[in-house]
Amino acid sequence: MNGRLHDKVAIVTGSGSGIGRGCAIMFAREGARVVGCDIDVRTAAETVELAQAEGLRIDSFHPCDLTRAADVRRLVEFAVERHGGLDVLVNAGAFGAFAWIEEMDHERDWKRTLAGELDVVFLACQAAWPHLKARGGGAIINFASASARVAFRPLPSLAHCAGKGGVLAMTRQLAMEGGPHGIRANTISPALVETTATRIPLETIPDFREEVLDKCMIRRLGRPEDIGWCAIYLASDEAGWVTGADFPIDGGTTAW
Ligand SMILES: NC(=O)c1ccc[n+]([C@@H]2O[C@H](COP(=O)([O-])OP(=O)(O)OC[C@H]3O[C@@H](n4cnc5c(N)ncnc54)[C@H](O)[C@@H]3O)[C@@H](O)[C@H]2O)c1
Repeated sequence: MNGRLHDKVAIVTGSGSGIGRGCAIMFAREGARVVGCDIDVRTAAETVELAQAEGLRIDSFHPCDLTRAADVRRLVEFAVERHGGLDVLVNAGAFGAFAWIEEMDHERDWKRTLAGELDVVFLACQAAWPHLKARGGGAIINFASASARVAFRPLPSLAHCAGKGGVLAMTRQLAMEGGPHGIRANTISPALVETTATRIPLETIPDFREEVLDKCMIRRLGRPEDIGWCAIYLASDEAGWVTGADFPIDGGTTAW
């Protein structure tokens, strides 16, 4: 344990999988008091056990549907009651549906993606805001994506691009509104990281892996730890003068 996040109270959403799980465990290793949450009870509990196996503690609030305001309020109350306040919010939990424009169903794909990528960030930020303010400041870390800036030929990601472009833009506004209260808000924009969300497209979409690797200057897929290190920095006091910024952690994918 290096203690870069010593005693900071951090909510990490989507802690049952991928980047959220990686951030929750890495934050706990750095001394944060982590509260995870997920809609998936089994995987959320698994993350708690993985932490326990390392001698770390993660509290978890599950099931929690981040598209429901009442669930999100209860999540934040749970964290504040347990740890006496809140310093960091990592919004990793998300859901996106993928379809080409001609096949995209308005309700099932488009609206569900915007709820799963945008509402979840708005609701969590709004619920956390008064508690971050009460502490005299804190850090919000949102996830945009390389898809907010570039298109990937084999990926039918219209709604996802809209959602992530939205996260990128709204985080700048959050930074501006949070500045006077000491609340910093930044985005991390990963390119393709191997997680539950990307396993199926990687296995089923022809040429997807090759297209992604072709765009990547460091020719490998990302790992949750690649993202977790950036999240630790942004959550820590080392990033005290960093807000309204986007961090492309993408092996150079968007730098061509
Ligand atoms: N993996 C990538 O390549 C990649 C690239 C760019 C951006 N991102 C973004 O990073 C974040 C994490 O991605 P990931 O790949 O780890 O995803 P993931 O699917 O592996 O994990 C997301 C977690 O969120 C949970 N979740 C989904 N909807 C929820 C809801 N309504 N309420 C509560 N929990 C919910 C899921 O159960 C899952 O455990 C997302 O915002 C994603 O869009 C990922």
